[in-house]
Amino acid sequence: MKSIKRAILSGLTIGIIVCSSTVLLFLFFAMREEIFEIMDYQMEQVALAAHLRRDYSTPDTESGFEEKTVDSIVQIRDAENNLLYTTNRETAIPLVSKPGFTDLMYDGTPWRVYVLSKGDTTVQVAQPLKERKEIVFFIAVETALSLLFLAVALAIWIYIVVNKSFRPVQELCDSIRRKKASRLDPVDETMVPEEILPLVRELNALLSRLDIAIKGQKHFLADAAHELRTPLTAVDLQVQNALDTGNELERENSLKKIKKGINRATVMANQILMMAKTDADILEENIEVLDFRTIIGDVVSEFSPLAMEREIDLLWSKPEAPILLAGNERGLKAMISSLVDNALKYSPSGTAVTLNAFTDTGKLFFEINDEGPGIPADQRPKVFRRFYRYRSERALGSGLGLAIVKNVIDFHKGSITLGDGDNGTGLKVELVLPLFDENRH
Ligand SMILES: Nc1ncnc2c1ncn2[C@@H]1O[C@H](COP(=O)(O)OP(=O)(O)OP(=O)(O)O)[C@@H](O)[C@H]1O
Ligand SMILES: [Mg+2]
Repeated sequence: MKSIKRAILSGLTIGIIVCSSTVLLFLFFAMREEIFEIMDYQMEQVALAAHLRRDYSTPDTESGFEEKTVDSIVQIRDAENNLLYTTNRETAIPLVSKPGFTDLMYDGTPWRVYVLSKGDTTVQVAQPLKERKEIVFFIAVETALSLLFLAVALAIWIYIVVNKSFRPVQELCDSIRRKKASRLDPVDETMVPEEILPLVRELNALLSRLDIAIKGQKHFLADAAHELRTPLTAVDLQVQNALDTGNELERENSLKKIKKGINRATVMANQILMMAKTDADILEENIEVLDFRTIIGDVVSEFSPLAMEREIDLLWSKPEAPILLAGNERGLKAMISSLVDNALKYSPSGTAVTLNAFTDTGKLFFEINDEGPGIPADQRPKVFRRFYRYRSERALGSGLGLAIVKNVIDFHKGSITLGDGDNGTGLKVELVLPLFDENRH
């Protein structure tokens, strides 16, 4: 796994090594040149000083000439090339005819020679190059050691600083690790470094969304259990009645009520299941391009026997052209079924339920009209709530149908409006859904 800390530390360490080596190399060549220049200058000065000498018999101790040129050999010659004076008789370096500086080999070692002629005397100063190289080498070693020390000190310092800078990240991890799944309160942002603040903010936003979702699920579970308990309590009561009574008619009556109660519980359990199945995460799993006409056709066929039983005309004029949507088939069918179920359930016999679909400017418009009691305007926003029922005595139900419709319509980025029926009575439900767009999907 990638570690930012390791990347910073190794990056900086490599940087320090590369920089120190470059500086060392640069310093080495610069120093070498400087030292060579200084020593050449020294040789020139020695040659000039030698010219000023008049007495060549004794060494000149007063001017310090002997001591200063301890590594150099100074030779003074007359016009006939006779050696008038030398600081070292054993090393008899021959006279170089060319004035100025010359590098030569003598006795197997390299020498640097400087020749200066003035009047009838010629001064030759010779210096072993080995000396210079040794000086350069020692200074280079000292510089390298200083740089090494600097590099090590810098590396330690960087390690300390990086470790310290990453401590808030570690603390943040610890505080997140300590969080309980049941407590999704946000992470404290006050001590979070600026660089990771956006990440923490996103995490807090996610935690808050999760919190809302989990609370919603908990409420739903509590409501569902509560709603299921009502028919089950009634069933329990009737079972006791049936057991206690000696009257056959009363027992039969209780058994009928038990059947009704079980029916209610079954309808509710089915609706709870459908509610869970139309959760956005589940709908998301299966998206395909569908012909909306097929969905309506299937639902109409499914509900036709019920409509006949209730003597209601279920009318659907199927459009000629396909109406393509990108969506979840099961979800869309559940939505239309809930609406048709309501229309048939709440409308009296002898009425009609009409389904209509048309497209316009990239949208699908679907209407379902019934001739039942309708929903008063003040109730319309409320009926989408889970388990909310209005005039519940009219028909069996759990109050989840329109909540399922809302789930599905929201998932498909559509809208739903409840209004008055076209014939002045009843309810008109209008759905608007985006059509399948090849460029967008
Ligand atoms: N077509 C309609 N005509 C009159 N009232 C309706 C119609 N559709 C819905 N309602 C009212 O809205 C309320 C909520 O409807 P919803 O479909 O959510 O629940 P339900 O039909 O009572 O139960 P479920 O659909 O879960 O079996 C219903 O109780 C009913 O009073
Ligand atoms: Mg319903």
